[in-house]
Amino acid sequence: MASPQEHLAELERRAELGGGEDRLRRQRESGKLAARERIDLLFDAGTFDEFDKLVTHRCRDFGMEKELVPGDGVVAGQGLVDGRSVFAFAQDFTVFGGSLSETNAAKICKVMDLAMKMGSPVVGLNDSGGARIQEGVLSLAGYADIFLRNTLASGVIPQISAIMGPCAGGAVYSPAITDFNIMVEGTSYMFVTGPDVIKTVTHEDVTKEDLGGAMTHNSVSGVAHFAVPSDRECILLIRELLGYLPSNNLDDAPRVATSDPADREDEALDAVVPALPNQPYDMHDLIQLVVDDGGFLETHQHFAQNIITGFARLGGRSVGVVANQPKVLAGCLDIDASVKGARFVRFCDAFNIPIITFEDVPGFLPGVRQEHAGIIREGAKLLYAYAEATVPKITVITRKAYGGAYCVMASKHIRTDFNFAYPTAEIAVMGPEGAVNVLYRRELQTAGDPVARRAELVSEFREKLANPFVAASRGFIDEVIHPRKTRTKLIAALAMCENKRDKNPPKKHGNIPL
Ligand code: HXC
Repeated sequence: MASPQEHLAELERRAELGGGEDRLRRQRESGKLAARERIDLLFDAGTFDEFDKLVTHRCRDFGMEKELVPGDGVVAGQGLVDGRSVFAFAQDFTVFGGSLSETNAAKICKVMDLAMKMGSPVVGLNDSGGARIQEGVLSLAGYADIFLRNTLASGVIPQISAIMGPCAGGAVYSPAITDFNIMVEGTSYMFVTGPDVIKTVTHEDVTKEDLGGAMTHNSVSGVAHFAVPSDRECILLIRELLGYLPSNNLDDAPRVATSDPADREDEALDAVVPALPNQPYDMHDLIQLVVDDGGFLETHQHFAQNIITGFARLGGRSVGVVANQPKVLAGCLDIDASVKGARFVRFCDAFNIPIITFEDVPGFLPGVRQEHAGIIREGAKLLYAYAEATVPKITVITRKAYGGAYCVMASKHIRTDFNFAYPTAEIAVMGPEGAVNVLYRRELQTAGDPVARRAELVSEFREKLANPFVAASRGFIDEVIHPRKTRTKLIAALAMCENKRDKNPPKKHGNIPL
């Protein structure tokens, strides 16, 4: 008879084997790491403590009583990432396709409850066929328990989801509530239901990749925030992302020592914004010249590229960057850009991350499609998010700040702490050409030389109204700055915001236009 120690060792061996050698081999052959390998990569070496390794499912139907795998298809526990406590779970696809049972849901809930109590981020490595079919409503109940915790944890601790296999049903709705979704190209899929069911219901033919592959959700639906080429890069990205975030909503993000001087002035910045008002440029160039060591972790890089969002550091302090991108759609705000920006601003606000806005926006994108799809409601999300945010907010207008977009993009009027503008800034109700068309239409119809007259009026409009000086004379712009000084000014402004206290009126919650 085996000793208690030998019995434990045998149970641990079986837990570590998961669904068995064959399934493990298939997992590796499909280019995926095993659940335990993913956990090992995520945490600092030797720091992971596993919970509930010996939990088994309780299903007695469909012959399930014969298939008891200790751990029941999810590896759960806590460890350190760069020395900071993080809770995590990794679904094991080799055990019933990583599907969620009653007991495996309880393990995930335990991890989430502990993460909440201890004020630490939670990372979910998802690789699951959704609710375990054999367990019926018990698995649905397990998902509902997780969804509730995802919702209650939202804005309290950072929640990061990696999609590392085919994920369906509840396995996508839980990540959808979390803060960031990372998908692995070629091996991960997210869908409510897969191509076979779609074929039956709507008669559409679609591949897994087109329906819910990494690039579909990164560039088309915007459900995912990052696409990475492999499991390894996925895990390394999670570690990098965590480095920009605080452990919880009462904490500050870690400060990182930098050798990039706070008073570094960069002459190259003087040349980023072109002299011609309609000439595009890449706002990434400007961001990289300003932030610490040019380091920028872009979120939603492939989605709504007319707005840029991501994390960087200024003087070692983590900041969220939101920037219009003149290179795409001239930097107009459309529905996708508004929603992308709003969600990012709200994340930063929830987690004490100052928001730096670089603004060059000709306005909201006009058109029937945008209006009918609700640009009014969707654009209002960005406005609402910026207005309710109480973290330090600092804005630099590099060129255009027209119309409603001026108000929306962290203007002084919605409680932005410091507003800077380059001398090239144009702050006006609309662009000079549009304004002249509205104001002088009749005069231009009868002008002897309408082209020359229009040019004259446009130039007059630009001189009088499309500049930063009117706004600066009213204090709506705190300072018109030379571009080369952007970094210095931002770091000084951040320092002034160090002890910022601001709050919203007491309420249960606001009613952001959803
Ligand atoms: C039990 C499951 C399972 C599930 C997969 N398996 N999904 N077991 N419950 N939900 C098992 C398979 O029987 C198989 O077992 C093993 O996992 C691997 O599955 P394969 O189908 O061989 O893998 P693959 O071809 O890669 O396809 C993966 C898949 C597919 C796309 C995930 O299995 C699939 O479509 N599964 C069902 C997805 C689904 O509709 N889930 C329910 C969602 S409803 P063996 O023994 O052969 O290794 C839901 C409700 C939540 O989640 C509420 C939402 C709001």
